[in-house]
Parts: sequence; C-alpha cells; structure tokens
Amino acid sequence: MTSTEFDHHSPEYARNWREINAGLRAQCPVAHTDAHDGFWVVSKHADVAEVARDDATFSSYQEFPDGSRTGATIPVSPLRQVPIEMDPPEFFDYRKLLNGRFSPAAVKRWEPFLRDITTFCIDNIIESGSADLVSDIASPVPAILTLELLGMPTAEWRTVSEVTHALVHTTPGTPENDTALGGMMGILGQINETIAARRAERKDDLISELVHTEVNGELMTDARLVEIITLVMLGGVDTTGSLIGSSLEWLRRHPDELKRLANDSSLLPKATEEFLRYFSPIPGLARTTTRACAVGGQALEAGERLFLSWSSANYDEDVFERPDEVVLDRYPNKHQAFGLGIHRCLGSNFARLQFQVVVEEFLRRLPDYVVDTDAAEPYPSIAVVNGWVSLPITFTPGPRLGSKFAL
Ligand code: HEM
Repeated sequence: MTSTEFDHHSPEYARNWREINAGLRAQCPVAHTDAHDGFWVVSKHADVAEVARDDATFSSYQEFPDGSRTGATIPVSPLRQVPIEMDPPEFFDYRKLLNGRFSPAAVKRWEPFLRDITTFCIDNIIESGSADLVSDIASPVPAILTLELLGMPTAEWRTVSEVTHALVHTTPGTPENDTALGGMMGILGQINETIAARRAERKDDLISELVHTEVNGELMTDARLVEIITLVMLGGVDTTGSLIGSSLEWLRRHPDELKRLANDSSLLPKATEEFLRYFSPIPGLARTTTRACAVGGQALEAGERLFLSWSSANYDEDVFERPDEVVLDRYPNKHQAFGLGIHRCLGSNFARLQFQVVVEEFLRRLPDYVVDTDAAEPYPSIAVVNGWVSLPITFTPGPRLGSKFAL
C-alpha cells in the first residue's frame, strides 16, 4: 500500500492520531495522500530523522515563477515565517540572530520572572476553587513570557493567546480560520507599532535587538522583521501551553504518578521529555524535495511535499519500548517533539523551563485539583498544535502569595 486518506487537519486525526500513525508505521511508513493537493507522510523515526537532517534535498521554502511557494506547513500558511521557512545558506544568517537569547544560560535568567508570572496567574484563581486550566494558567504564562521577551505589551496576552489558539487549531480555509487570520491582522498592527517604536528608541528586548541588527550589511525590512517576530510569537505561545494542559490532565487521571512527580521534583526533567514525546504538541511539519530521491525505499520526484510526522516517530516501536505508555523516568528518550536538524526548535530551553516551573508551582499549590472531564474540550482539529480549548478544574481554595508582576 502506498496511498492513505491521511489528513492531519481532519477531526478524525485530532481524535485518533495515535492509532492512525500506528497504522501508517505498520502498513506503509511512507504513504501518499491526496489531501491538500497531495503529499507524502513520513512516519518512521529513522526516515523522519534522515529527511530533517538533509536540508539540501528536503527544503523548507521554495518560490515558483507563478508566485506560489512552499513552506513548513501543509497547506502553506499565508504568512511566511522566518527562519523556519528558509534554507541554507540564508537560513544561518537569521538563525544566528536569535540563538543568543534562546541559549540555556540566557533562558535560565528568565526563571525568576517566570516563577513570578506563574504565581500571579495562580493567585488570580487560588481563592475561588475553580478555574480553566487553559485560559487561567497554561495560556497566559507562555503568552506573557513571550510578549515580555519580544518587548510587546504583556497586557495584550489574552488577545495574542486567543488568536494564536484559534490559528493553530482551526483548519485553513474554514470561516473560523478566517476569523483567526483577521485577529492576526490586529496583532500584526501591534508588531509594526513596536518595530517603529524600537527603531526610534532602543530597549533591552528581542525586537530592539532585531531592528538594530544588520544582515549582510543591511538593516532588515519591516516585512522581514514581522516574519521573524510572528514565528517567535506563534512558536512560543500555544505549544508550551498545550504541553502543560495535556500533561496536567494526564497526571490527574494517574494519581500515583502525580504523587510520584509532586514528591520528587528531580524526576521533572525526564518527565518533561516523556510528556513531550507522548503528547508531541506539534504533530508534524513539512518539507519539499529539491531533486529525485528515495525515503524509506519510496522513490520521490523533485517538488513533492512531505509531512514529517514527529508524533508518529515518537511512538516508533523500533526506538521506544512500550511507546504507548508514559514512563516518567524514560531514559534515553530520543523523541523528535522539537524536530531535529538545523531547524530544531529554537525555543526548546524556554519550553522546558516554562513547563517545569508551571507544573512545580501548580502541583504545590493546587495538589488536589480535579479536571471536569465531561466539560474538558480538546481542539476539534489540529492546524499546527495539538492541545485543549478548555480544561475546567476545581480544587480546595488556598491563599494568595503575592507577585511583583501586574497587568
Ligand atoms: C512544547 C513546546 C514546543 C514544541 C513542541 C515545539 C516544536 C517545534 C518543532 C517541531 C520545530 C521544528 C520545525 C521544523 O523542523 O520544521 C520548532 C521550531 C521552532 N520553534 Fe518550537 N516548539 C516549542 C516551543 C517553542 C517556544 C517556547 C518557542 C519560542 C519562544 C519556539 C520557537 C520556535 C522557532 C523560532 C522555531 C524555528 C526554528 C528554525 O527554523 O530554526 N518553540 N519548534
């Protein structure tokens, strides 16, 4: 079998992605689907790794004479994102602009701020005894952090988070997705205002650094800056929130594991990797072949689209023992949740730190939280990120601790 009805945007995939991926790995690890003008799904760990590491054969961005282009998503997003949709050598000029502020040492310096905004978010709900884990904790913490990092107004976190949420889970071409794109236009306006403000007056934030940095001897255009800033924003906001929501929902259903993690925070780094593997918040991203080649024994022409299924690779029986189980102290854990190769997630250090701080603080202050599973609402479909619309929780009220952060 080489063909499949695979569609990563279908409600069926959102509900049954583990089973669908397992079927592909077992029957046809490189399978063709006609969905979205046709593409190949690569589902084995070794094949995904081979493609992701060969950026000369498998491109992240191509432009054609008729004005069309390819990119990192299927179908192509109307907003180009840089550097994820860029190939070497140009790619390196842009990725190196960003690496410094995302290094382990630079990220570590954000821990006090991160703990403070987590305290702020928990304080806002702790006296009430009920909340929505998504809109009260898992969304605001990454959104506030990302806006602060960029140098954008943190008071706007809700708009940014809601639009990002909608963009990453509604299907391109639907009215819901069009509404989300409309909201994105408003955010683009704010990004442009911030770019103009930082050109006039430099501050200590990422946007200031970008507007005053030259690439090949020239300052970047506003359009290019927007392509970079929107990627950091979209990459930073919903992905980590989904990981937090999915993991806390799972832990509540596995009270012994919850207790184990709450009592032993040294387990948290390995548990973080395991939740990344198990939930794979970004199920897959795309490449385009630049020449005739073969993947997993399947011959491909130049110009074919490929969907690299990180979420399938993360359950590959050839690499992981008991892939369908969460093994909190799994080691080694060669998951591909952050991708691999030159485009490997820039924000992985931020994602890990945010996840660990939020889970630690949350389990300490709301240890008896209960998720209302009947009212919990997963994303009905996945555009880029797999997560939750809403996760209502109840818990024993507790005292506010006070934070320096205010909106
Ligand atoms: C659980 C959280 C996260 C997951 C699962 C995740 C996943 C990924 C994946 C799979 C890629 C690889 C793309 C490819 O190979 O085509 C990627 C790239 C990227 N991520 Fe993340 N990400 C997360 C958090 C973040 C955060 C917090 C930020 C920023 C604050 C971020 C910013 C980026 C950027 C800028 C890229 C593009 C890198 C490049 O092309 O060089 N991500 N991410």
